[in-house]
Amino acid sequence: MNRRLLIIDDDADFAVATSRALALENLDCRIAPDGATAFALLEAEPVQVALLDIRLGQEDGVEIAARLLARHPGLILVIMTAYASVDSAIAALKAGAYDYLRKPFFLDQLMRALERCFQLVELRAAKARAERQLALLHRIEVTSQLAAGLSHDFKNMLAVIQANVTVIEDGLPIGDGLFPYARDARKAVQSADGLVQRLMGFARNGSAPAAPVDLRDPIRAAVSLLGGTLCAGMTIRCDLPDHPLRSPVAPEQIQTALVNLLINARDATGGQGRVDIVLQHLSQGSDYARLVVEDDGPGFSAATLERVMEPLFTTKPEGTGLGLAMIQHLALVTGGSFGVGNGVMGGARAVLDLPCLGQDQLSGANM
Ligand SMILES: Nc1ncnc2c1ncn2[C@@H]1O[C@H](COP(=O)(O)OP(=O)(O)OP(=O)(O)O)[C@@H](O)[C@H]1O
Ligand SMILES: [Mg+2]
Repeated sequence: MNRRLLIIDDDADFAVATSRALALENLDCRIAPDGATAFALLEAEPVQVALLDIRLGQEDGVEIAARLLARHPGLILVIMTAYASVDSAIAALKAGAYDYLRKPFFLDQLMRALERCFQLVELRAAKARAERQLALLHRIEVTSQLAAGLSHDFKNMLAVIQANVTVIEDGLPIGDGLFPYARDARKAVQSADGLVQRLMGFARNGSAPAAPVDLRDPIRAAVSLLGGTLCAGMTIRCDLPDHPLRSPVAPEQIQTALVNLLINARDATGGQGRVDIVLQHLSQGSDYARLVVEDDGPGFSAATLERVMEPLFTTKPEGTGLGLAMIQHLALVTGGSFGVGNGVMGGARAVLDLPCLGQDQLSGANM
């Protein structure tokens, strides 16, 4: 994140000198000589912290502080004044200022105060990210429970419908006018059955931890499943490590995850694109297996990227919007993480990290 500071001070010499000194500390500074300019600058671009002189020409700094915070509640405000009046300090803090500095001050005093402000900015951002992830996890859990409850009963009902439609279809004389209707009904039942299978797969993601499996196996299985069929027109490059990479997940969950990503890549590239699959071992504190799937399609638009992990979000007429949400769920329940974005060449890039056994644990395991 770019650390940006707004200095609101009518003392141009002080503002310019301070902004130059702070630029050397990697702070991106803007200067406003009055309240109106400060408001305009804050509207124009995001600023996390503002340094406000309480004596701003004829303007009342405390009143400006209150208005700034009312309009930009996330802004962290540090008040400064050459007139060290306790009253104005209390008034400014009451108006919501975060800190108070008495002019003149040394650069290191200012830096310490600003460091505290930007730490608060980062903490707030981390909290917001955690809350978003929790809300998403909650949505996924609700969908998963709903899926578990509904899909079982639906599956049984569909089996009955399918059996009956097949009897009707088979019993119709050749050329009968009802034949296309029976055929369409059977096809619809088949696609409903496919949807139910996907919902059941979603619900299964939460099941008990599995014995460690070599991730290369389900990856090869998914590639060979689709390589000759649904993705036959695509170039699939698969780069797997020479040694086993064992992770405690059910192999069919990994296979389903990769099938979802490959089908997404096929849809995005019109079935004629290229997909690179890379599996590697990462050791960053703990051991992770990283699966990266990147295609050469158009990538995600900004609007899609905002909502792409929401269960049931889709931009495809026939999509169910469960593919990426399912992988996200799998990652969260196994202690890993999942993210999507656009690669350097502009195509979609998905990264799934899963906990795995380290090299030392592997040497004792069956290779
Ligand atoms: N490789 C990709 N390139 C561009 N956009 C993608 C890619 N993968 C997914 N998307 C976008 O993300 C959306 C959600 O994907 P997701 O796999 O969750 O659901 P879906 O593919 O629409 O439906 P399904 O449940 O059948 O997978 C897609 O509708 C599409 O807009
Ligand atoms: Mg999909």
